Amino acid sequence: MSSVQISPSILSADFSRLAQEVAAVPSADWIHVDVMDNHFVPNLTLGLPVVEALVKTSPRPLDCHLMIEDPDRWAPGYAEAGAGSVTFHVEAARAPIRLARAIRSAGARAGMALKPATPIEPYEDLLPELDMILVMTVEPGFGGQKFLDVVLPKIRRTRQLIDRHGGEVWLQIDGGVSAETIERCAAAGADVFVAGSAVYGAEDPDAAIRKLREQAEI
Ligand code: DX5
Ligand code: ZN
Repeated sequence: MSSVQISPSILSADFSRLAQEVAAVPSADWIHVDVMDNHFVPNLTLGLPVVEALVKTSPRPLDCHLMIEDPDRWAPGYAEAGAGSVTFHVEAARAPIRLARAIRSAGARAGMALKPATPIEPYEDLLPELDMILVMTVEPGFGGQKFLDVVLPKIRRTRQLIDRHGGEVWLQIDGGVSAETIERCAAAGADVFVAGSAVYGAEDPDAAIRKLREQAEI
């Protein structure tokens, strides 16, 4: 079985018909849900009530990416609501170890996200507490931005740290992932790929996922 996973971001989907939009991507491994609070990032999207509704309708588990202040308070609620994976930003977390444990004990995979300029090295010892590291390849806040090649060395270093620890930690990337950029991300060691505009901006979103997966399986 391939280890490549594709998580289409509904940020680029039609919010007036979310149930149909998630049903339109049966090839997805996850449905990526971008929660933004207009404080941690300068944009506002959706929150817990919408996630609670999507959990009931989505054929794939939800991969919630929380771009919010005070994730210590809010993130466990997303796990309790039935999200399969809940990712908080380390820049916003007060107690990342306690938070990761709370997410796991509420039944979800625990992810920790890093903005493009946040180094991974200070968090190496946290790897056993985590199921996924999300390395942002754009500044979080908006879909459709240009991929930041400057982050590629950090993806490689994160892959090395994960391999050295020998754990089952996934390495997700998010931002500007497309047919043009996915191969170099896979070569750098990423294995879970978020794509918003490259999937929902395509004429056939499911075909776009299948193509991205093929390109990443190198
Ligand atoms: C951006 C979000 C992303 C966004 C990616 O802050 O975290 O998940 O939807 O969109 P694309 O793939 O268009 O860069
Ligand atoms: Zn995201």
